[in-house]
Amino acid sequence: MAASLASKVAIITGAGGGLGKAIATAFIAAGARTVLVDINKANLDTTVAELGEKAHAVQANVAAPESVQNIIDETIKRFGTVDVLVNNAGVMDNFAPVGDVDLKIWDKVIAVNLTGPMLLSRAAIKHFLSKDTPGGVIVNIGSTASLRGNCAGAAYTTSKHALVGLTKNTAAAYHKKNIRCNIICPGAMMNTNIKDAFTNGTHAENQQLALLTMAMQPNVSELPDMANVAVYLASDTSKTLNGAVIAADGGWSAF
Ligand SMILES: NC(=O)c1ccc[n+]([C@@H]2O[C@H](COP(=O)([O-])OP(=O)(O)OC[C@H]3O[C@@H](n4cnc5c(N)ncnc54)[C@H](O)[C@@H]3O)[C@@H](O)[C@H]2O)c1
Repeated sequence: MAASLASKVAIITGAGGGLGKAIATAFIAAGARTVLVDINKANLDTTVAELGEKAHAVQANVAAPESVQNIIDETIKRFGTVDVLVNNAGVMDNFAPVGDVDLKIWDKVIAVNLTGPMLLSRAAIKHFLSKDTPGGVIVNIGSTASLRGNCAGAAYTTSKHALVGLTKNTAAAYHKKNIRCNIICPGAMMNTNIKDAFTNGTHAENQQLALLTMAMQPNVSELPDMANVAVYLASDTSKTLNGAVIAADGGWSAF
């Protein structure tokens, strides 16, 4: 059975570009109506204009508690409900290991990559449980850095490992309430803006060490291929998956 998202309403964070935009595009192609969330208004507006009437923009910082309920409220106002949440917004660190962590970078990475998904999940779950027929799906976007120790710096690696914990706890706590939560762990992807984090330089020694592991990645994943994994996880076709940690890296993390 092909994965369909017909009649589903999905919130996708970090959807102004990169993987989030690819996920929104694939969700709409599968029949969903989507709310695209991003902190970057210019990118968000351009993307929503491109995607048409099944895309609605909400500019927000996912790490700001005061913004998050508004994302849910705006979605219900525009499309009547929320069925799927994709916690995709994320920022990279500068490859620094713990001995050289810059506290500002640490706080930002943990806030966007971990506190943001918790805040959005908390608000979405309240709505999922309040429906006449309770239920919903959460798809978290992790990384190979959710599974391995040094594909990035300490902050990013910690945030993405912890997101696995949030995923499994959510899956277990709500498994009898028709709510599923799974995490995709992508390998390297091109054509995204995640390298913006390197504008102020990187920790060269640890970046070199981290890049050595890249030699084990057979190829760089295409964004539409990764987005299809999210479509599958959001759809009823994957209803047996809950708390699953899905390496989507061509086998890189299998080494
Ligand atoms: N690119 C890769 O190689 C790669 C590999 C593994 C995992 N990932 C993960 O994939 C996800 C998407 O990354 P991407 O590569 O498309 O990067 P990207 O930078 O192109 O996209 C991330 C989006 O999140 C938005 N964003 C950042 N902070 C935000 C905030 N506080 N509130 C709302 N939006 C915010 C950005 O504006 C951007 O549009 C991230 O979670 C990232 O960690 C990326």
